[in-house]
Amino acid sequence: MTDAPDRRCYVFDAYGTLFDVHSAVRRFEREIGPEAARLSEVWRAKQLEYTWIYSRLGKHRPFADVTAKGLDYAIATTVEVGPDLRSRLLKSYLSLDPYPEVWRALFALKARSARLAILSNGDPDMLSAVVDYGGFEDIFEAVLSVEAAGVFKPAPAVYALASSALGVAPADITFLSANRWDVAGAKDFGFRSVWVNRNRLPDEYPDLAANLVIEDLSTLAKE
Ligand code: LAC
Repeated sequence: MTDAPDRRCYVFDAYGTLFDVHSAVRRFEREIGPEAARLSEVWRAKQLEYTWIYSRLGKHRPFADVTAKGLDYAIATTVEVGPDLRSRLLKSYLSLDPYPEVWRALFALKARSARLAILSNGDPDMLSAVVDYGGFEDIFEAVLSVEAAGVFKPAPAVYALASSALGVAPADITFLSANRWDVAGAKDFGFRSVWVNRNRLPDEYPDLAANLVIEDLSTLAKE
C-alpha cells in the first residue's frame, strides 16, 4: 500500500527565507573589510524600506532598482566600494546561496507530491536566476513575482496572486517567510502562516501571530 499523495500547497518567500541575502556581500568580505556585515545589513534594510515607501505612494519600481538604490545608500553610509565591486555585488544578487537545508526540505516535500511555489518581491528575471542557480527549476509549480500585482508586499494584492495561481482558498495555503512583517501580511490575508525564525529574533505583531514558528525548513517535511 502506498501513502496517499500530499497535495498541500506551500508558498515560500524567497529572499531571506530560501536564499541568503547576505551571501552576496559575504563573497567579497575580504575585499570589503570589517564593515562588510554592516554594509549588508544596511543594504537589506534600505531595500525593504524603499519597497514599503514606494508601495505606500502607489509608485511601483522594479525590485532590481530598489536593490541597487539600497546598495548605493549602504555604500554611502558604511564603507567605500568602487564601481567595479558595486557591480559585482549587484550581480551576486542573481546567484544568492540557498540556506543549507533548503534543497533537502523542498525535495522531501516534492517527493510526497506537495505543491510548491515562490511568492516574492523579486522581479521575474531575478527570481528565475536564483531558482536556476539553486537547482530548483523542477521544484516549483509557480514562481510568482509581485510585478504582476504592481505593488510590493505586504499589499493584499500580492498574496492574492498565490491563491489565484494555485486555484485554492487562502486558508489552504501554507505560507512561509523568515521576514516577520511578511508573515504578518500573509496572516492578515488569510494564509496559514509559518515564521521561519532563522535568526532567533523576538516575536512581533502579536495581533497577527504566526500559526507556526520554526527555526529553519528542515522540520517541514515532518509536518
Ligand atoms: C521577498 C522579500 C520580502 O522575497 O524577501 O519577497
